[in-house]
Amino acid sequence: PLVSMKEMLETGKRDGYAVGQFNINNLEYIQAILQAAEEEKSPVILGVSEGAGRYMGGFKVVVSMVKSLMEAYGTTVPVAIHLDHGSSFAKCAEAIHAGFTSVMIDASHGPLEENIATTSKVVELAHIHGGSVEAELGIVGGQEDDVIAEGVIYADPKECLELVNRTGIDCLAPALGSVHGPYKGEPNLGFTEMEEISKTIALPLVLHGGTGIPTKDIQRSISLGTAKINVNTDNQISQSKAVREALAADPDQYDPRKYLGPGTEAIKQTVMGKMREFGSSQKA
Ligand code: G3H
Ligand code: ZN
Repeated sequence: PLVSMKEMLETGKRDGYAVGQFNINNLEYIQAILQAAEEEKSPVILGVSEGAGRYMGGFKVVVSMVKSLMEAYGTTVPVAIHLDHGSSFAKCAEAIHAGFTSVMIDASHGPLEENIATTSKVVELAHIHGGSVEAELGIVGGQEDDVIAEGVIYADPKECLELVNRTGIDCLAPALGSVHGPYKGEPNLGFTEMEEISKTIALPLVLHGGTGIPTKDIQRSISLGTAKINVNTDNQISQSKAVREALAADPDQYDPRKYLGPGTEAIKQTVMGKMREFGSSQKA
């Protein structure tokens, strides 16, 4: 069923695993991720960036594709459709009204008071519709579609507590050194801050930039209350590699099913691996 993230993340935090958010870009991503979740019996979050939403024809098209495929597949595991890095109240409202069950409001780039004000408005609207809200503090490095970050800023644990207490969000993404896209060298996650945050905040935490984080850091993050891990680049890399190989193996091929099919299978295998790594397999 289509649900918000609230219950799946609270259960994950309580039972010591994380649910993956896998970003979708087109029909094939939705197919691959829904199939992976069903085979792994795992709850799953479909992440939709504003840019990917536009690419697919708008938020309503996204919701229609997801609902139709869930019906066609007879999906039994919990699925959330989540706006990734929502840039404004208006965008979050558009997603919720289109049928998204969850939104992230990323107002982390402005002053704390503005972040709190915008996030509070999003929470009020989303909760009326039964949706969940993720908010961010600090700055994740690298690029996320429309949101480009210069450098990395670690979230301040005191500001995190204030944001949580004054907004009523359902989960918190404290930027602690993670980066969108591949890491240059080993990631340097702020586990000291993460521990401090997890001691004062009861909410599930979210780890962005899940591509390229070593398993030991994944496990440590989960042990410190991380219950949602976002992965995008890893799926894109494995899909592109498989499509390139299929085209190279048969340069005369022009049937998209023949070269996109292997890409879709590659996404599915990557997602299944993450579900096992994050511990969400067999939890739905
Ligand atoms: O919000 C999306 C994620 O943080 C994706 O990060 O592309 O490094 O896996 P990634
Ligand atoms: Zn992110």
